[in-house]
Parts: sequence; C-alpha cells; structure tokens
Amino acid sequence: MTGALAVNNAEYQWDLFDSESYQQSNYATLHELDQIMIPLLAQFFDKRELPEHARAIDVGPGANLYPAMAMLPFAETITLWEYSSANVDWLRQEISGYRPSWDDFWQALVRSCDRYRDIRPAELLPRVVEIEKGSIFDLEEGRWDLGTMFFVAESITGMLEECAAATVKFVRSLRPGAPFVATFMEGSRGYVVGDQTFPAVEVTAQDVLGILRGVASDVTLYPVQSPQLFRHGYDGMMLVTGVRSGTADQRVRHGSGSGTNQRKEWSA
Ligand SMILES: C[S@@+](CC[C@H](N)C(=O)[O-])C[C@H]1O[C@@H](n2cnc3c(N)ncnc32)[C@H](O)[C@@H]1O
Repeated sequence: MTGALAVNNAEYQWDLFDSESYQQSNYATLHELDQIMIPLLAQFFDKRELPEHARAIDVGPGANLYPAMAMLPFAETITLWEYSSANVDWLRQEISGYRPSWDDFWQALVRSCDRYRDIRPAELLPRVVEIEKGSIFDLEEGRWDLGTMFFVAESITGMLEECAAATVKFVRSLRPGAPFVATFMEGSRGYVVGDQTFPAVEVTAQDVLGILRGVASDVTLYPVQSPQLFRHGYDGMMLVTGVRSGTADQRVRHGSGSGTNQRKEWSA
C-alpha cells in the first residue's frame, strides 16, 4: 500500500462509477484471463454439495454479469449486492435484457461444465436475480449458501485493513460450509473508470491467504497471469476458492512463489 493511496472506501464517489465505460473496457469481449478463470469458477461450484433451494450472492458486481451467470445452475436466487447507484441502475437494465457479448462468457461456462448446457441465461437471470443496494460492510451474517466477489475488496479502498474487513464480511455473509470464489488484483495501484479515479490496495497472495485464515477453510489460490494483461496498473490476478469455516475443517492451504500461469496452485 502506498501513502498516496491510503484512502478509505467512503472517500470515493461510487455513484459516479461509469458502468458503461467499465463494461466496455473490461467485458465487451471475452478476454484471455476470463477464459482462464471461468473453468475454475464453474468446476469449483459443480464439485460442491449445495442445498436444493440455494441462495447465492455476488458482491460488488459492478458491470460484470459472469460471476452471477456462473451460479445459475446452483442457485434458486442470486442477490447482486451493489453499493453504487449507477451500477444498480445499470444492472437493472442489463439483467432485464442483456447484450449479446455476454453470450461468449456463457459459452465459456458451457465448455467448462455440463450443468450449464440446458440453461437459457437471458431468460433465467431476470427470474432469479434480486438486486440489493448496499455496502459490503453491511452484509448480514450467514444468509447465503454460495457466493462470489470479483475484484471488490482490494479495489474499493487504499487501506489493507479495510480490504481485510471487506473480505471477512463477504465470507461471513455465507453460512458455515458454504463455498465461495473471490478474485483479487495483485499489486493494483488504483484504476480509472470514465473520468473518475478509484483506489486499490496492492495485495499479495500472502495478504489474501492471511486475511482468509480464520474465516475460511479448504482455501486454494490460483495465480492468474498472462503476457497480454489488458487491465493496466497491476501485476496479475488471483482467484481464490474456499469454504466459509465454522465446521470442524479449518484447514487453509498456503505457500509461496510467484506463479506464471493459471494452473499453479498455492499449497502447503
Ligand atoms: C473494481 S469494481 C469490480 C466490479 C466487478 N465485480 C468486476 O468483476 O469487474 C468494484 C465494485 O465494488 C463496488 N463497491 C464500492 N464500494 C463498495 C462497498 N462499500 N460495498 C460493496 N460494493 C462496493 C463498486 O461500485 C464496483 O462495482
């Protein structure tokens, strides 16, 4: 974390988040890094035992629909928990009739796992999605059965303690034993959306694993890197799978090293 970015979440104007610009910059096409992350996401949830009427949550969806799409086969409801009123408005519109570019993300899910094959996401999303405007810091504890949080905890603040508090809030919003997938920018120094600058914390794999120790078990961290990084101002991405602890299994796998590709897991 640099001194210049030692700012907190409340200091930024999240309602001025330019959703359309963010979508165009990051999700107008299916990028290589998303093609790496999508199978990890789909296959992780597919392997978990989930209740029949599972309630899912994606925290801080912004203008990204694919974490919610990834939970469609596994959930009866999907809450999109978003803080920015601009993103809430954008999500309401997009969920009611999403643009064709999301079809490539859906096809990547279909290629990853059979559970997606018979679903029509454009029809199902408006039926199962509930959009709630709220802060990650106000999430109720133990309410959801599975969850995702993509590029949120480290990209809403310049303070490591606040990033840690947000991550813990997300994990604790799940019931004990519930699976989650979270992604983090590695070494991000902030980002620009439209004409607004937003903060970030330069987290490392060790930071993320340290934050999760105590709230999550069965944690695996996948470094996600590519020679063609398309989001500038960071070193790579990390995708983490795990389960909210509170059961007997408190195991957290962690290790060291700087992976250069997606399949290199961190393990003890
Ligand atoms: C870098 S964007 C990530 C968007 C999206 N999840 C993705 O994968 O690209 C960070 C998101 O966190 C949201 N956010 C900012 N402060 C928040 C808070 N206190 N609680 C929940 N979400 C917040 C922003 O509005 C934005 O949608």
